[in-house]
Amino acid sequence: MTAHIRARKGQIAETVLMPGDPLRAKWAAETFLRNAELVNDVRGMLGFTGTWQGNVVTIHGSGMGMPSLSIYANELITQYGAKTLIRIGSTGAMQSHVKMRDVILAQTASSISTPSSGIFREVNFAPCADFGLLRAAYDAAQAKGSAVHVGGIYSSDVFYDERPDLNEMMTRHGILAVEMEAAELYNLAARHGCRALAVLTVSDHLLTGEELPASDRQTSFGDMVEIALEAAFA
Ligand code: ADE
Repeated sequence: MTAHIRARKGQIAETVLMPGDPLRAKWAAETFLRNAELVNDVRGMLGFTGTWQGNVVTIHGSGMGMPSLSIYANELITQYGAKTLIRIGSTGAMQSHVKMRDVILAQTASSISTPSSGIFREVNFAPCADFGLLRAAYDAAQAKGSAVHVGGIYSSDVFYDERPDLNEMMTRHGILAVEMEAAELYNLAARHGCRALAVLTVSDHLLTGEELPASDRQTSFGDMVEIALEAAFA
């Protein structure tokens, strides 16, 4: 048991999928895992462990933003021995060739700051995905027929952005999309020798103003879960 996770040692798998929304963790566990068991509900942050094709998997919410993800990922890695962590979440597209519902595999995650900024100080550490996971996720997405992009994303500290020039600068530098968690996940994975990847679906478009209706999000979310599971156990 930790400050934020009530699971006993052994109840968390080495492979953890991390959606931001705890109810998405519940839906994914009930939809894709066998014998899914609730292993955490402290502060309403739900985690489930079950099996997928005979492999043990935990699906645990991260909450929104890097400070929240950092709490759960830190404890999952250092207290429970998680070794492969895959974020599954939504993202806002920043390029015109990226369309609504497309899948983005975050090769790198730029940021202005992360919870690790105080550790890195003057160093501009480059958080990046695990190549094996990235390659396997790409293959899985292609096999599903998903429109998939691989490249850099931007992990922002804010959803309601008062600096449109920043987003525009990211667009000019080829950044595919913005979300709020991946950079710190990659930092933590690097620090602790784990594998990490963010598999994202475009839920809104910063250039066109489009937004995905809630009804469409479930289908896209299911595709991401399958891509993540296939990548984790490829
Ligand atoms: N996640 C999904 N869309 C986003 C956006 N526009 N900004 C930050 N995070 C997001």
